[in-house]
Amino acid sequence: MCSADNEAQRQRRTTDKVIAIDGPAGSGKSTVAKELARRLGFLYVDTGAMYRALTLKAIGGNVDLEDAEALTELAKVVDIQLDMQGEALEVKLDGQDVSGDIRQPSITEKVKFVARIPSVRTEMVRLQRTLAAQSQGAVLEGRDIGTVVFPNARHKFYLDAQAGERAKRRHKELTQMGQQVSLEELTKEINERDKSDMEREVAPLTRAADAIYVDTTHLTIEQVVLKIIGLCST
Ligand code: CDP
Repeated sequence: MCSADNEAQRQRRTTDKVIAIDGPAGSGKSTVAKELARRLGFLYVDTGAMYRALTLKAIGGNVDLEDAEALTELAKVVDIQLDMQGEALEVKLDGQDVSGDIRQPSITEKVKFVARIPSVRTEMVRLQRTLAAQSQGAVLEGRDIGTVVFPNARHKFYLDAQAGERAKRRHKELTQMGQQVSLEELTKEINERDKSDMEREVAPLTRAADAIYVDTTHLTIEQVVLKIIGLCST
């Protein structure tokens, strides 16, 4: 059999065991995806953490964030590892634990420069597909999972919530991490980031036509997890 057939088969096998979750900041994606993966014994892939880690590497290496070529070279060589340590995701960049560093506001505000470069995204998507292909099953969450990374995924969800609720959730999360930021600033940051994620030319945040829309505004994490598990088993 030719290698193109093998590749097509491999993709089909992978898409059968992928749960794709997309949505804006604070929609509950990460918490829900992590819990779903735990219950199903699947791999959890936080694709936002990958873009954040690459941004951290670029800033640490004084790479110009307008230099698409340099950022692409970085994306080709970067070593990003995602591992669950108990209930928390540990993100390693070139062997160093950067789980806290990648969530700093200075990184959050700069990710967009890295995420808007098509050739950078190609490298990240390649890594995401490989991780899923090597797993027994994977829950991937981000902005373009159901549209670009796994457009043929069997299970696709788009999580959303009212803007005020999303800002409140993120505020609680960051406060627990020891970051001090006002609800007002956060609301502004989230709105700006959603706008830039939705309006960028490459892989914008959008609901795939076949993704199930879940408004999590008035739902607990447990309710969302159960809803998704129920929908995946039908
Ligand atoms: O957790 P939060 O909603 O704050 O964001 P994240 O998932 O950590 O992603 C951070 C940023 O990375 C997003 O605002 C996007 O600009 C970018 N991103 C992306 O472009 N594509 C993805 N699949 C995931 C994240």
